[in-house]
Amino acid sequence: MQVMTCIEDLRQAARRKVPRAFFDYAEGGSYADQTLRANRADLERIKLRQRILADVANRSTKTTILGEPVSLPLALAPIGLCGMQHGDGEILACRAAHAAGIPFTLSTMSICSIEDVAAAVDKPFWFQLYVMKDRGFVRSLIERAAAAQCSALVLTLDLQVLGQRRRDIKNGMTVPPELRIKNIVDIATKPAWALSVLRGKRKTFGNIAGHIPGMENVNSLSTWISGQFDPAMSWKDLEWIAGLWPRKLILKGIVDVEDARIAAKTGAAAIVVSNHGGRQLDGAPSSIAMLPPIVEAVGSEIEIMFDGGIRSGQDVARALALGARSCMIGRAYVYGLGAGGQAGVTRAIEIIRNELDVTMALTGVSSIAEIDRHVVVG
Ligand code: GLV
Repeated sequence: MQVMTCIEDLRQAARRKVPRAFFDYAEGGSYADQTLRANRADLERIKLRQRILADVANRSTKTTILGEPVSLPLALAPIGLCGMQHGDGEILACRAAHAAGIPFTLSTMSICSIEDVAAAVDKPFWFQLYVMKDRGFVRSLIERAAAAQCSALVLTLDLQVLGQRRRDIKNGMTVPPELRIKNIVDIATKPAWALSVLRGKRKTFGNIAGHIPGMENVNSLSTWISGQFDPAMSWKDLEWIAGLWPRKLILKGIVDVEDARIAAKTGAAAIVVSNHGGRQLDGAPSSIAMLPPIVEAVGSEIEIMFDGGIRSGQDVARALALGARSCMIGRAYVYGLGAGGQAGVTRAIEIIRNELDVTMALTGVSSIAEIDRHVVVG
């Protein structure tokens, strides 16, 4: 592997190694990608304040997330289809996160199932839940996550309908890939990927296939999934879920102050300020633009995590400066996974850790708690 100096290096490597349909699935936003671009552009606009001679010899990136010690204020976000970026991708990413001392979130739409991951790692992970129309199945997913000792349930609230993903439509993206000529040619040039996915435990949605009667074959499964997102979901359903889940609840997908105020009263442990990586409402503001007003409205009532465009330790510092307690990364680790499996995810986390550490030194702070508005210009 060439020297990976930054997340962009991992992205370039992943682009060479992962079939186009799956690389594009992770990479893309919805519709015209306006919100996807705003996430990055608005982060880059925030300028950090360079300070000198502050004695930063004893720095630490350690902090806590939901009261649990972590080695840096970062968690791996729920990402669908990790097992299509690299065989057993969910297990590898979870192992990398745990070895680095940060939380991993398994997506409902993962390839390896909750049970596969639980059997392959030795610490609890977080489970992300989509509330589907089939509430019996939702209940069973919650019970399975509880039985697997998942320590938090991350409820994704911004996908009641699916924003159009133009790349996926054009690529004819399916799980597993449909063997059309175009795909076969693409996969033939990515033999390491093909081998890892062939050797992987599963080739389809592990949490779903085999858990719903009649949903064994892939065609009926994809029809079932696309009909399952529930536009009727409301705050009442949240109460029902909170009543079923015995541990910490995290509400993800909040970019509106009014929603944040309601969320803060639910008893959830945290909210994630997130626009789903620019993959849902195109034209929504960037996540970072909405962080300060949300922190001002509910920051004293509930822990606030940030998600949306983080590609560096400098970005983590920016989000923390604006009031987030920690950040989630999605694409940044998926590029690592595609580039080099577990080692690639480990590298992605290390890159961000090192950048955050140097950013702390050069902004004159020694601890995560000290990162506040005074580290940004203006
Ligand atoms: C699913 O959460 C997706 O954004 O594709």
